Amino acid sequence: MVKYVVEKNGKLMPSNEMKKIAWVSDEKIYKDAEKNPVKFWERLAEEGISWEKKWKKPYVEKLPYFEWFKGGKLNFCFNCLDRHLKNNGNKVALIWVPEPTGEKTIKLTYKQLHEKVCRFANVLKKNGVRKGDAVSIYLPMIPEALIVMLACTRIGAIHSVVFSAFSADALKSRIEDCKAKILVTSDGYYRRGEEEELLGKAKEAAEKTTIKKIIVVRRLGKKLDKELDFEEEIKKAKADCDCETVNSEDIMFILYTSGTTGKPKGIVHDTGGYAVQAYWTCKWNFNLHDDDIMWCTADVGWITGHSYAFYGPLLNGCTTLVYEGSPDFPDYGRWWKIIQDNKVTVFYTAPTAIRMFMKAGDEWPRKYNLGSLKILGTVGEPINEEAWMWYFNRIGSKRCPVIDTWWQTETGGTLINSLPGIGPFVPTVSGRSFPGTRHIVVDDKGKEVKNGETGNLVQLSPFAPGMLHGVYKNHEKYVETYWRFKTKYDTSDGAYIKNGLIRMTGRTDDVMKVAGHRLATAELEDAISKDNSVAECAVVPIADEIKGQVPVAFVVLKSGEGSEEIEKEIKKFVDKKIGPTARPAKIYFVEDLPKTRSGKIMRRILKALLNNEDPGNLMTLINPEIVEKIKEIIQKSSEKA
Ligand code: WT7
Repeated sequence: MVKYVVEKNGKLMPSNEMKKIAWVSDEKIYKDAEKNPVKFWERLAEEGISWEKKWKKPYVEKLPYFEWFKGGKLNFCFNCLDRHLKNNGNKVALIWVPEPTGEKTIKLTYKQLHEKVCRFANVLKKNGVRKGDAVSIYLPMIPEALIVMLACTRIGAIHSVVFSAFSADALKSRIEDCKAKILVTSDGYYRRGEEEELLGKAKEAAEKTTIKKIIVVRRLGKKLDKELDFEEEIKKAKADCDCETVNSEDIMFILYTSGTTGKPKGIVHDTGGYAVQAYWTCKWNFNLHDDDIMWCTADVGWITGHSYAFYGPLLNGCTTLVYEGSPDFPDYGRWWKIIQDNKVTVFYTAPTAIRMFMKAGDEWPRKYNLGSLKILGTVGEPINEEAWMWYFNRIGSKRCPVIDTWWQTETGGTLINSLPGIGPFVPTVSGRSFPGTRHIVVDDKGKEVKNGETGNLVQLSPFAPGMLHGVYKNHEKYVETYWRFKTKYDTSDGAYIKNGLIRMTGRTDDVMKVAGHRLATAELEDAISKDNSVAECAVVPIADEIKGQVPVAFVVLKSGEGSEEIEKEIKKFVDKKIGPTARPAKIYFVEDLPKTRSGKIMRRILKALLNNEDPGNLMTLINPEIVEKIKEIIQKSSEKA
C-alpha cells in the first residue's frame, strides 16, 4: 500500500509518493505568496474560479471592512455545477448514504444534480424569491440540503442554514433576524434508527414571522397540511434556469454562530472571495484531484458542512460523500464500512468523533479495508496527542498525513494547517498560515509576543478572501467582537508559535467547544434564566474526555430546593430554547453565586472549584462565604456519583 508519509529526523513528513501527487510540494509557495498576497490571491482567483466579468480592484480595505475582487461578477452555482457539465457531466457529484441500512445509497451525477438544482431554483422563483432575498434552510443531511443551497446561489438568493438539531426557538430567532420569506425543511430524518421529527418544530418557528411558505422534503413520507411538497414542486418546475449574475461582494449566505452574548450573530459571507478560498483550501489541504472522493462528516448546519462537505469538493469537480445518520448506528463500524464501500480517499472529521471511536475500540476499524484513504483531516477544536496518534495509526495505518485545520465560521475556509505535500505533521500543532495569509500572536495590548509565548492569535492585513463581511445588520457587534486590536482581526483564540508552527491553545472568550459545536456560556445562561423557577445562573465549561468540553450550570432557584426533577425540567427547557447539543452535563443548585461588589459573577472561581483547584484570592467578593458552600455541594455530588 502506498505510504504518503515518512519519518524524517523524528518528524512525520510527506513521502516522495505524496510529493509526486501533491498540488504543492515546495516551501517556496509561502515566500512567494508573502511577497505580494493580493497578487497571489488574484492569480488563484483567476485560475480557480470562472468569472463573468473580471474585477476592477482585487482588494479594497477600509477597516473594519474589506472587499475582494471588487467589480468582479460571477455565479456561485455555475462554478459548482455548470462548468463541470461539458467534460464531467456523468461523473458522480454526490454519494448519499442514508442511515437505515436497508436503504440504498444514492448517487447523483453532476448532470442530475444540475437538473434538480435548476428545477428547485424555479420553485423558489415561483414562490417569490428574488436576488438578495433570504431563504431559511432547516434540513438534515440529505441531498436536498445541497440542492436547495445551490438553488439559492443560482438565483442570487441568500441562504441561511440552521442546524436541524436546534430547537424551534433557535430557528425562529434566526428567521426573524434575516427576515426569510421561505423556509425549506423536512418532515424528519433518521437518527440512531429512530424517526426524528422536524416539521413540527419548523412550523412552530415559522409562526408569526416573515415566512410565507414552508417547503417540505418528505423524508419520512408523512402527510402534509398546507405546506408545499418538495418532490411535487420540482416535478412541476422547468428543468432549466439561468444563473443570476452577482457581484463578488454580494452576500451569498448568512450563518449564525455563538458569540459572547446571549444572541447568536449572523456571520455574513460574500460570493467571490468565499468561492476562491473554498476552492483553493479544499484543493491544497486535501490534495483533491478529480478522481478523489471526499467525505467531510460535518453537518451542513455548521460552516464546515458548507465549505467542505458541499461547496469545496463541488467547486473542484470531485465527488463528495454525505451520510445521513449517526456514527455509531447500527454499530461503531458504520463509518469505516462507508469508507470501505465507497472507496473514500479524503476523510475529514472532528476530534470528538475520533475520541469516541478510540474509546469504542480498535476492533471496529480493523474489520474494514481503509486502504483507499490518502489524507485525514481534523477540525473544530484542539486535538489531543492521543487522539491524533490513534487517528494516524488506526485509521490511516501510519500511511496518511493528518491535517489539523484551524479556522472559524467567520473565516469561511481553513486558514492554519500543514499542507500534505509540505508537512510537517505534528500532533496537536496546526501548522502554518495558508499561503497568502498571515497570523501572529499578540498580548492584550496588541503587541507581538516572543516566539513560543502564548497570547491572542490575530490575522494581519490583507485579510483572507473568505473572511466574513460583517455581522448581519449589526455593525457595533462586528467592531466590538473582532476589532479590539483595530488593524488586526481578533480570532478570540489563544495560540503560540514555535519554529514557525502555530499551536492553538483554546478560546480566549466565553465560548465553549462542546463536541466541536460552538456555544457561548452567555447564550446558555440566557436560556436557563428564562426558566420560571430560576432566579440566577452561571455556566462554565469543564473538560470532558470525549466531547472536549461540556457545560456545567450553577443555578439559584427563586424558591425551594433543587431536586432531580427540577434538574430534568431545566435540561428540557434548554432543549427547547437552544437544542440538546447545549444541554448542561450537570446542574448544581446553590444559594448564591460568587460575585464582586459590582455584581459581576466570578466564573473563574466556579471553574476552579469544579476542577478541584485553589479558587485563589476571594478578597474582591461580596460573598466569599459562598465559595466554601459551593465546594461542599460539588464534593457531595461527586461522592454520590
Ligand atoms: C473555533 C471556531 C472551523 C470550522 C468548525 C468550527 C476552534 C477550530 C480548530 C483546530 C483548535 C480549533 C477554535 C475556533 N477550532 N478548529 N484545528 N484546533 N481549535 O467553527 O464553530 O466557528 O468554531 O473552533 O476555537 O475559534 P466554529
